[in-house]
Amino acid sequence: MSMTVRRLSRAATAGLVAAAALTAAAHSAEAADTLGSAAAGQGRYFGTAVAANHLGEADYAATLDREFSSVTPENEMKWDATEPSRGGFTFTSADRIVDHAQSQGMDVRGHTLVWHSQLPSWVGQLGASDLRTAMNDHIKGLMGHYKGEIHSWDVVNEAFQDGGSGARRSSPFQDKLGDGFIEEAFRTARAADPAAKLCYNDYNTDGVNAKSNAVYNMVKDFKSRGVPIDCVGFQSHFNSNSPVPSDYRQNLQRFADLGVDVQITELDIEGSGSAQAADYTEVVEACLAVDRCTGMTVWGVTDKYSWRSGGTPLLFDGNYDEKPAYDAVLSALGGSGDPGDPDGPGDPGDGTATCTATYTRTADWNSGYNGQVTITAGSEPISSWTATVTLPAQQSVSALWNGTPSLNGNVMTVRPSWNGTLAAGASTGFGFTVAKNGSDAAPTVGTCTAS
Ligand code: G3I
Repeated sequence: MSMTVRRLSRAATAGLVAAAALTAAAHSAEAADTLGSAAAGQGRYFGTAVAANHLGEADYAATLDREFSSVTPENEMKWDATEPSRGGFTFTSADRIVDHAQSQGMDVRGHTLVWHSQLPSWVGQLGASDLRTAMNDHIKGLMGHYKGEIHSWDVVNEAFQDGGSGARRSSPFQDKLGDGFIEEAFRTARAADPAAKLCYNDYNTDGVNAKSNAVYNMVKDFKSRGVPIDCVGFQSHFNSNSPVPSDYRQNLQRFADLGVDVQITELDIEGSGSAQAADYTEVVEACLAVDRCTGMTVWGVTDKYSWRSGGTPLLFDGNYDEKPAYDAVLSALGGSGDPGDPDGPGDPGDGTATCTATYTRTADWNSGYNGQVTITAGSEPISSWTATVTLPAQQSVSALWNGTPSLNGNVMTVRPSWNGTLAAGASTGFGFTVAKNGSDAAPTVGTCTAS
């Protein structure tokens, strides 16, 4: 679809806009029992990253439409997706997301205009002068297509290096245009869509550190010289190596004090159960404590499509069941869950927790094999499980992952490592490598015990 066609069709589709407004009104009139409505009660949006190719999946779309008030295209607005060849703009997948969001009364965050990654190779081949023109044309082309339809744009993404130096990251833009490319991108963006909030977005800037200090100094400089910048995005990808920083709130606040909005833009936290829930609570509370923290976006709807799905970092599991982290976020936003939902995590349940364990050989070679045991919760949520695996006498286990084993002779008892909490019907599993030592027989998997 060309830019012109899109703008004309937007203006001509008053019915669509009216329908979106009605849906939005319906959302806000509901009790605060979804993430979006609870966040709205706090004057914030609650968004998610969305992939166009999942919108056709009924559960995906239903969860998205019910819970979220803002969407960020996960990959569809990136340079490689929108301008794969110079001047050859293509918006099909991004339009699909924007159209879906608008039909549901959701806002759209634009991600992202200038980034070193997911950059088509032709961009890196340009000389400085051509590159400057191409960068500005890309901003104008993309922002022009969605003019008036995007609440915030990540104008520049991840331009600073990790580590202690606070230096800019090497990229075609940095290497050929120097520090000034960021300022130029923001000025071009302001002219392209004056209504959109213009954000700088980065990761590992969530606490006070050398990298966030460097971004802070840039924003301070921009504000003092009138370079147009409206917000800073904190990606907030957390796990045990990169936990929620203890000075997260203070860091958000110091940026807000520079006179910009702050947004949590790509939130996900690896883990499970109550520990993950507590981390999510901390993040939401930090945003709510900062007046200029205008909203939060989680980086995906369901664990199964997360960019790091092995870490189960999101609020809905692979079956779209609400995780303890979901309950924690809803509660931190001041919302209330549905106590009548018999499948909701944390519900007392009305029977005994159960699980099943099933075994598959996933790889096989002369001297060994890999086994995988899948643990599936029964009709009640479970908070832990135990499974036994008995190996034929000659065999021995050389490695085990996603579980905590204890060995008694050839009987391995395996308990969860990070993956104890399962919603009703949800699955996890552990894997292991076995040395055959002359026996190719299969192990026996005993009864799964849940609590
Ligand atoms: O769509 C193709 C598919 O056709 C192909 O078969 C497959 C083979 O690898 O690749 C698919 O594309 C992948 C795409 O995700 C869609 O799934 C790309 O390889 C993969 O690189 C891409 O990863 C994305 C990543 O950015 C790229 O840097 C993730 O989905 C996306 O979640 C992630 O998002 C970034 C933010 O933009 C910036 N901040 C960090 C964040 C996480 O890395």
